[in-house]
Amino acid sequence: MNELQKKIADIGVVPVIKLTNPQRDAKPLADALCAGGMPVAEVTFRAAGAAEAIKIMADSHPEMLVGAGTVLTTEQVDAAVEAGATFIVTPGLDIEIVKYCQEKGVTIFPGCTTPTDYHAAYKLGLEVLKFFPAEQSGGLDKIKAMAAPFPMFKVMPTGGISLKNLATYAANPTICACGGSYMVTADLIENNKWDEITELCKKSVQIVKEARK
Ligand code: 3PG
Repeated sequence: MNELQKKIADIGVVPVIKLTNPQRDAKPLADALCAGGMPVAEVTFRAAGAAEAIKIMADSHPEMLVGAGTVLTTEQVDAAVEAGATFIVTPGLDIEIVKYCQEKGVTIFPGCTTPTDYHAAYKLGLEVLKFFPAEQSGGLDKIKAMAAPFPMFKVMPTGGISLKNLATYAANPTICACGGSYMVTADLIENNKWDEITELCKKSVQIVKEARK
């Protein structure tokens, strides 16, 4: 793992964020995440304005690891990096985008769930993969099965992670960090429930810490 991946692993949980109103919500959301001990964000390009949200978060919180998610094109890589993103997450393994990020020296977590994905990722020299969609693809059982032929990878499972199953994932040595949106739902953001977000982050970080003991 590189330095950035190690920092993400130390935090243990990555909030997957979709912001419809970055001007209004990006700064208070970044405040809430940092206050909860989770200074990291995967800001998805599923919402227009993702680059703006990345910029606001990165500018207001230089200590935060701000990345872009649901990146589907090299143009989005450029937009994300220009806004201040330091890592890129893609839902699947796109060799062109992986190579583009590697040339630029930008950390990329491509979505991988099959032996074919892992094999291609191995050839590309990757070390940490997003395992997506985690629960729907077989969850921890599949992650363990994949670690037998591919013990060199750490993974970041995302999709279906909640406070209920976080500990089980976090306790496994193949897990780098868990991604999820449960602490940054549309309801929490739209209704400015920043304190609740902070509490969910604190609880999550604590769960990971306990699970790794
Ligand atoms: C992602 O983009 O990684 C997932 O949609 C997040 O999944 P979740 O909403 O089930 O946490």
